[in-house]
Amino acid sequence: MKNSRVSEKLGIKYPMIQGPFGGGLSSVSLLAAVSNEGGLGSFGAHHLSPKEIENLNKEIQTKTSNSYALNLWVSDHDDDGLNLSPQKFEETYKLLEPYFKELNLPKPEYPESFGQKFSEQIEVILKIRPPVFSFVYGVPDEAILKECKKQGIVTIGTAITPDEAVFLDEKGVDLIVATGLEAGGHRVSFLRKAEDSLFGTFSLIPQIVDQVKTPVIAAGGISDKRGVAAAFALGAEGVQVGTAFLATKESNAGDLHRAKLFSKDSKYTNLTRAFSGRLARGIENRMLIELKDELNRIAPYPAQGWFTGRLKKAAIEQGRTDLMSLWCGQSAGLLKHHHAAEVLHSLI
Ligand SMILES: Cc1cc2nc3c(=O)[nH]c(=O)nc-3n(C[C@H](O)[C@H](O)[C@H](O)COP(=O)(O)O)c2cc1C
Repeated sequence: MKNSRVSEKLGIKYPMIQGPFGGGLSSVSLLAAVSNEGGLGSFGAHHLSPKEIENLNKEIQTKTSNSYALNLWVSDHDDDGLNLSPQKFEETYKLLEPYFKELNLPKPEYPESFGQKFSEQIEVILKIRPPVFSFVYGVPDEAILKECKKQGIVTIGTAITPDEAVFLDEKGVDLIVATGLEAGGHRVSFLRKAEDSLFGTFSLIPQIVDQVKTPVIAAGGISDKRGVAAAFALGAEGVQVGTAFLATKESNAGDLHRAKLFSKDSKYTNLTRAFSGRLARGIENRMLIELKDELNRIAPYPAQGWFTGRLKKAAIEQGRTDLMSLWCGQSAGLLKHHHAAEVLHSLI
C-alpha cells in the first residue's frame, strides 16, 4: 500500500485508522495492536474524566511508542442534557421503568453529573499532548486548534456532510474523516440535525474531496480491501474502520456484543436515539424497536445515556442482549477476523 498525505501527516506506515469507540468500548490493547502494526490506533475518551484521560495516556505509552489518537466529543450535551429537570428525570425513568424492573434494578437517584465536560477534558489533552487528537460533533475554538498546532498535535475533525467538511477545512484542521451513514455508532453532525445529515459514503467522499484541500479519510461501511480500494478510487487518502475492529478480541465490546456482530442479526441495523439521546446505528433489538416511537419521551444527550448505561451494565451481567446498545455498522455481514492485526492486514 502506497503512502499518502494521511500516512505522512500521521507518521504511520499505512494510512489505516482504527476508529475510536466511545462509551467504554475502546481498549488500550486494540489501540496498541493497530499502532504497533503500522496503522493508527485510537481511543474514544469522551466518557472519561480529565484524570482518567491522563492515566489512560500513561498506560498507552507503556504499550506503544508509535503514533496514536485520543478522541473527544466537542459538543458534550444537547439542551438540558447535563441539567435534566427533576420532572424530566421522572418522565425518563417512567419510560424505562419496565426495563429497570425486568433487570431487578432499583430506581436510580438523581446523579451529581450526567456526563463529562469537553472544556475540562481538552485542558488535559493540551497538557499530555497525544500525537493525534481526533474529535466529532463540531470543532474546538480557534485558540485550541492553534495550541495543538504549536504543540505538534495532529488534529482530525469529522464531517458527515460536505458542508461540515468545508467548515472543518476553513478552520484549518490537519485531516478530515468523512463518515457515511453506513457507519456504526453515532451520526456526529454539527451543522444540521443528524436525521437531516444522512449521506452514504459513496456520495459523500467524492463531493468532499472536490470541495476541500485537507486530506480526506473515508469511514463508514468499509470492512475489507474492496471497500478500501473504492474509498481510494473516490479520492480518499486514508480509511477509518470501526465495526471490523470492534468485533476483534482486543476491543472492549464484550463477548455478548461481539457474538452479535458475527451473527445474522447484524444484517439488521437501524438509527436510533433510544440509547444515548443522540442518533446512532446499532443492531435492532427489543429495546431499539420498542422505543422507536418514543422520540418525545427520550431524554436529551447525555442524560438518556446515563439511564441506559445503568441498564446496560445489568443487561451484560444477566446475558440480556435485548436491553443494551449493540452498536454496529451496515457492513458487519463482511466480518471475518477476530484479531486486530488480521483486520489491519486484510485491509492493506
Ligand atoms: C461502538 C462505536 C463507538 C464509536 N464511538 C466513536 C467516538 O466516540 N468518536 C468517534 O470519532 N467515532 C466513533 N465511532 C465511529 C468509528 O470510529 C468509525 O468512524 C466508524 O465506526 C466507521 O464505520 P464502520 O463502523 O462502518 O467501520 C464509533 C463507532 C462505533 C461502532
